[in-house]
Amino acid sequence: MAIAKSVVLILLFAVVCSVDGAVKRPRIVGPDMFKNKNVAKDKLLPGEQIFNVMDFGAKANGKFDCTQAFMDAWQKVCHTTGPARLFVPEGRFLISSMYFSGPCTAQPPITIQVKGYVMATTDISEYENGDWLIFQKHNGLKIIGGGTFDGQGKQSWEYSEKCESGDDGACARNPSSLFFSDSSNVVVQGIRTANPKGFHIFVTKCTNIRLRKLKLVAPETSPNTDGIHVSHSDTVIMSRNTIATGDDCISMIQGVKNVFINRLKCGPGHGISIGSLGKYEDEDEVRGIRIQNCSLINTTNGLRVKAWPDRYPGAASDISFTNIDMENVKNPIIIDQEYECDPDCKKKPSLVKIQNVHFQNVKGTTTSPLAVDLRCSKLFGCQGVTVRDIDLKFGDAPTTARCVNTQPLFAGLLMPPPCA
Ligand SMILES: *[C@@H]1O[C@H](CO)[C@@H](O)[C@H](O)[C@H]1NC(C)=O
Ligand SMILES: *[C@@H]1O[C@H](CO)[C@@H](O)[C@H](O)[C@H]1NC(C)=O
Repeated sequence: MAIAKSVVLILLFAVVCSVDGAVKRPRIVGPDMFKNKNVAKDKLLPGEQIFNVMDFGAKANGKFDCTQAFMDAWQKVCHTTGPARLFVPEGRFLISSMYFSGPCTAQPPITIQVKGYVMATTDISEYENGDWLIFQKHNGLKIIGGGTFDGQGKQSWEYSEKCESGDDGACARNPSSLFFSDSSNVVVQGIRTANPKGFHIFVTKCTNIRLRKLKLVAPETSPNTDGIHVSHSDTVIMSRNTIATGDDCISMIQGVKNVFINRLKCGPGHGISIGSLGKYEDEDEVRGIRIQNCSLINTTNGLRVKAWPDRYPGAASDISFTNIDMENVKNPIIIDQEYECDPDCKKKPSLVKIQNVHFQNVKGTTTSPLAVDLRCSKLFGCQGVTVRDIDLKFGDAPTTARCVNTQPLFAGLLMPPPCA
């Protein structure tokens, strides 16, 4: 009986998993605090204490340094008992780099509600912590409220540009606006970030993190201002975000597993990127990335997997891009295992294994004729690539596809036509 039951279960599982062809819905790691809860709703919990930064000496004039006031308010929130929230009302608040560290004694999830406009100080020497607002060691955290985090990054962009041109490679990463690490059960919803010094949002070593209805904005020309950058994290759900920035809208590097991206609007920017991979020694694999119902407008790349040649081993597998609309995208579909080495790359091949990557139902316009460009490592090739129902137009001219060291399965209606 028990055996028969488990056989049925296995069969059922197989059926459920094959519906989308490739990648199943993200698996929840550990207990999911927000499971079956309406995360879109903000309701005060019974007995929830509210700590308003104004009661701790903050001044909402955009000039007074409110760092100490925010820190004092946060200490109260974190070290209380029962449910608690940090409240930032309307107004302009200037704050420097600071930690919102756990573990806390308050009852999770802790809420940070920001209605106002929070601005970063501009003196980069105040950012020894590496990032602007650092959220770490939490189990249960919600950041909500419709407010804005402005990184005031302009000065640091100039620095970053200079740094890039002097190619010693030793350039420090600019501070991210919101940095999350070593945390689980995190919801960031309905807030905005503008002009970060570095990335808008950086997620590392997190599980069960939801990033929803965010609006991330920076000039197209701002350097290295990735929208959401993720590493070493499991179960990351990003839905209904709007990102217009100077670098990748979303970038995912080593150790990222079970990601679901839904209804992203990206552009301008550099598109959605997996990689660069093979950059560091002992890289953890990337696995289970499902991206669907997204649109990309005026981006330099669309859907991209990129890896460095002649560097370290790595792996990326079970990746699907489904139902994607594109408008004026330069490189719509691209696997690039000769990152920053093309054309005529003479370096040793990439040591990154890329498997089971699916591009399906991708439609729209490109600004270059090469619409599907799959260049894989001479050592491994790319296994299990499918390209299905693609309709990409370059004005009135036909588009083309290139396949190097890979033999994708082409299916459905195809423009560009399959690789010869
Ligand atoms: C994606 O779009 C399709 C077609 O409009 C729809 O059927 C599907 O439910 C959408 N998926 C998600 C997760 O929104
Ligand atoms: C895309 O670029 C075109 C041409 O530069 C511009 O007219 C249009 O407004 C842009 N669209 C978006 C959504 O940025």
